[in-house]
Amino acid sequence: MKIFLDTANMDEIRAGSRLGVISGVTTNPSLIAREGRDFIEVVREIASIVEGPVSAEAVRKDAAGIVDEAVELARIHPGVVVKIPVTGPGLEAVSELTRRGVRTNVTLVFSANQALLAALAGATYVSPFIGRIDDTGADGMRVLEETLEIFERYRFGTEVIAASIRHPLHVTQAALLGSHIATVPFGVLMQMLGHPLTDNGIAKFDADWAKVTKG
Ligand code: G3P
Repeated sequence: MKIFLDTANMDEIRAGSRLGVISGVTTNPSLIAREGRDFIEVVREIASIVEGPVSAEAVRKDAAGIVDEAVELARIHPGVVVKIPVTGPGLEAVSELTRRGVRTNVTLVFSANQALLAALAGATYVSPFIGRIDDTGADGMRVLEETLEIFERYRFGTEVIAASIRHPLHVTQAALLGSHIATVPFGVLMQMLGHPLTDNGIAKFDADWAKVTKG
C-alpha cells in the first residue's frame, strides 16, 4: 500500500518527503484555506516537491464548469490529479475528463455504490472517507472493504484511496484490507513512526554506550 500525505502544508510535505515514504499528496478546499495562500501557487509548489500525484479539488458545481476547472488545474503540473465530489454533474465531468485523458480522484465517497459509479465513470482514484463514516456511527472500514471487493471482482483499474484517516489503526486496517493507498495527515504519519519502546530502547543503548566510551 502506498501512503499519500493529506495536507497542503509545505513544511509537512517537505518533512514527509524527506523520509522517502510518501508517494503523493491530497488536498481539499479546507486544507488549502488553512494555509491562507493562493490555491494555484500552493498546488504548483507541492507538485514541485513531491514525485507522484497531487490531488487538487475542483469547486465548480456544473459539469461543464468542473471540466473547464479540471483542465486548468491539470495544466499546472503533470502530477496534478483533479479531485471531484461524487455528484451527478461530478460524474458527468469525470466521464468527459476520462475521455480527455485528465486524471481524477472522486471524493466525498461514503458508500460502495458511490465508489462503483465513480469507477464506471472512469475515475483514476476513488476516496472513501473512513473517519467521517465512523463519525456517523457506521463502519468506514466496511465501506472500504466492500469497495475493494467490488473493484477486485470486476477488475476495475480505479485505485482506492482510504481517506479521512484519523489514527494509525485506520492505516493498518486499510493496509490489511488491500487498499491501494491511504492518505494520512502528517500527525498520523508521525504516530505511525513513533513508539515509546523505540525511544526507551535508544535511551538505554545510549546510557550503556556512554559507560563503554567513558573510560
Ligand atoms: O482526504 C480527505 C480528508 O481530507 C478528510 O479528512 O479528517 O476532514 O474527515 P477529515
